[in-house]
Amino acid sequence: MPATQPYPIVTKTVPTFYFIGVTTTKSSIMKVFPLWMQELGRPEIVIEGVDCKIHDDPEVYRRAVAQIKYDPNSLGALVTTHKMDLYEAAKDMFEYLDPYAQTLGEMSSISKLDGRLEGHAKDPITAGLSLDAITGDEYFGRTGAEVLLYGAGGSSVATLLHLMDKKSPGDRPKRVTVVNRSQPRLDGMKQLLASRPIEVVLIQNQDPKVNDQIMASMPPYSVVANATGMGKDTPGSPITDQGQFPMHGIAWEFNYRGELDFLHQARAQEQARQLTVEDGWVYFVHGWTQVVAQVLHVDLTPALFNRLEAAAATVRAK
Ligand SMILES: NC(=O)c1ccc[n+]([C@@H]2O[C@H](COP(=O)([O-])OP(=O)(O)OC[C@H]3O[C@@H](n4cnc5c(N)ncnc54)[C@H](OP(=O)(O)O)[C@@H]3O)[C@@H](O)[C@H]2O)c1
Repeated sequence: MPATQPYPIVTKTVPTFYFIGVTTTKSSIMKVFPLWMQELGRPEIVIEGVDCKIHDDPEVYRRAVAQIKYDPNSLGALVTTHKMDLYEAAKDMFEYLDPYAQTLGEMSSISKLDGRLEGHAKDPITAGLSLDAITGDEYFGRTGAEVLLYGAGGSSVATLLHLMDKKSPGDRPKRVTVVNRSQPRLDGMKQLLASRPIEVVLIQNQDPKVNDQIMASMPPYSVVANATGMGKDTPGSPITDQGQFPMHGIAWEFNYRGELDFLHQARAQEQARQLTVEDGWVYFVHGWTQVVAQVLHVDLTPALFNRLEAAAATVRAK
């Protein structure tokens, strides 16, 4: 450890994977992680939650990063909620930041390779893998569907980036509509959009009745996603119970726990409007498997992903 390293480091006696979040003990990962370590033949690795306050003191983030950087048995971390704040507070401590981390100004994965500390933003990959699993190939070419995203936070931006980076035109919707409660994040999104191959309509609104009208204007088969956190982080849903989903549409709630009002609204119309209704479980599994693979340097083949997904399903809260 260099003499200039100013943070107290705990020398771990067992290999430790950190989960930097807010209420980490409540997450399903605490039950899932030990099962995955068994599957990977690494049962000695433990998970440890690091609960930080929302928008915590930058020094708190730097201390958490220093622990990983300087303790050999601290392997890495998955970061939720604090992805942007941690990036801002500690980016100078990393030897490598991947292009998505630099574009988005956030990181969800902290890992080490050959003595380098690395930060990755995995959300464009994990949001994308989840959406691809829901739609299948060439969905937008086959159906003429559009995408409506309620919320313009990190997960929504990640979904948009993923769609824009699709090589095949059939995998890109002609138009994506993003509705956000306030203007600043829409302005941030506008900057990302320059010279991208999809038309994006950005709407500032938080009136659920107006959100219903926007949803009613979507063509059949369109994907409507709740990326607001409403129904988990805050009460309610961005739409009313009267809002009608597009015929044959896909309703995608980004969360898998909480009141999930939007999910229930969609389920109530599942038969009548021939909907595919998805919650955030697949997103959760992709998010975690990507970071675990990055930190432990495991090749996440489809077969391995399926095994990990099956193990996670055994402890999924009903
Ligand atoms: N299943 C998983 O593994 C997984 C993975 C990623 C995310 N998620 C979940 O997805 C949700 C979104 O994540 P995030 O990181 O993108 O969150 P975030 O950064 O907090 O963004 C939420 C966005 O929604 C906007 N919003 C809130 N209420 C709204 C309304 N009524 N109408 C329109 N926009 C509204 C907010 O507007 P302002 O700009 O005005 O604040 C904000 O921009 C979270 O609940 C998160 O837990 C789940």
